[in-house]
Amino acid sequence: MAEIQDKGLDAFKDMGEGMPVVLADKKLKIGIIGTGWIAENHIRSYMKMPDVEVVAGADLIPGKAEAFFKRFGLEGVRCYPSHKELLDNEELDAVSVCTYNKTHAECAIYALKKGVHVMLEKPMCVTTEEAVEIMRAEKESGKILSIGFQPRLDPNMMQIKKVIDSGVLGDIYYIQTGGGRRAGIPTPFGTTFIEEKTAGIGAMGDIGCYSLDMVLNAIGYPKPLTITGYTSNFLGTSKDYWQYRPHPEYADVFGVEDFAAAFVRLEGGIILDFRIAWAMHMDTPGDTIFLGTKGGLRIPSTECWNGTLDKPMVLYQTIGGAMVETTIPILPSPIPLFDKKIRAFLNAINENGTAPIPSSQILYNQAIIDGIVKSAKLGHEIEVEIPEI
Ligand SMILES: NC(=O)c1ccc[n+]([C@@H]2O[C@H](COP(=O)([O-])OP(=O)(O)OC[C@H]3O[C@@H](n4cnc5c(N)ncnc54)[C@H](O)[C@@H]3O)[C@@H](O)[C@H]2O)c1
Repeated sequence: MAEIQDKGLDAFKDMGEGMPVVLADKKLKIGIIGTGWIAENHIRSYMKMPDVEVVAGADLIPGKAEAFFKRFGLEGVRCYPSHKELLDNEELDAVSVCTYNKTHAECAIYALKKGVHVMLEKPMCVTTEEAVEIMRAEKESGKILSIGFQPRLDPNMMQIKKVIDSGVLGDIYYIQTGGGRRAGIPTPFGTTFIEEKTAGIGAMGDIGCYSLDMVLNAIGYPKPLTITGYTSNFLGTSKDYWQYRPHPEYADVFGVEDFAAAFVRLEGGIILDFRIAWAMHMDTPGDTIFLGTKGGLRIPSTECWNGTLDKPMVLYQTIGGAMVETTIPILPSPIPLFDKKIRAFLNAINENGTAPIPSSQILYNQAIIDGIVKSAKLGHEIEVEIPEI
């Protein structure tokens, strides 16, 4: 593989946490599927990479892809009206799937079947069944599929895993996680996050999946066994919530959950107590906590969906009979997480490696979200069943 020659790439020489930069000998041809809000972060990162050429893009909304590439000063990028035309007409190495949740599965599956590596935005999709179909296509194709959970690459989020891997907590038996916002239903550019037909899932797919990834990644992603779930959308559908906002009519199209809670039994006898809110009459539903046989860890209520801590983590132990609390300092995070996420994906392609954020883990994240939806509809606990991939 080529050595780093570009001065601008010096910043990536050490992406931290032992992530070297592996450049391709030739330029990788990249396509962007869905040119909305999050695609902007993808394109910015791809444009920093010397071994990448963004050659094509697609969006269902006429003219949107063209305007998107123009905005970034990219000329000659071929634009298509959907993922199908793009993948039928282009010879690509990889695509970023940046569409709304409901079309994640069809875009990722079509790309994998065309033999293209896929960076798929989070949440992986909407249902467990879709996740299984995506993974079957991944397996058949032998291509890399990485899921877009960039907060995982933040040094502080990595620190959580290091603390747990050190064994200082002993055996973990209980985790509480989630979080949320007092008034944070996301509608920056329209209703694709809040309409059932585009989003499929609400607060869980937008931010809850990050809390789940934060804790499940830290403990090695045990399989979820049973779930008692609850979802509601009292605020999202209420005229009161929307009345002082630019689009009061959004109450009428709101079709997903703005709050969810669940009690999940994980393999290994671990209990996961989860709640997430896009909106609530409360400041926070609580910190993330891990209880173990030898210690406890508190991660103060944090926007883990940005990979950030606003206060340091605290480790609780009893040493020689004394109750001890250790503050874990917040680490600097100088490299943008999107750059890390894209570089890790490109490195995996160039090294013939494996996905930095593998579907085999995120399958369980998706199964929990889907299990919460299903349990909430049924009104009782469900057993998690995941078909053979
Ligand atoms: N990783 C992150 O930090 C992060 C942050 C925000 C959003 N996201 C995720 O990114 C995804 C997109 O979010 P967004 O805010 O950019 O949404 P958006 O609605 O702004 O953009 C999605 C675009 O995809 C297009 N699209 C849908 N299906 C398509 C298809 N089959 N072919 C081509 N184009 C298609 C739509 O027309 C739309 O323009 C969501 O799943 C969201 O959860 C991730």
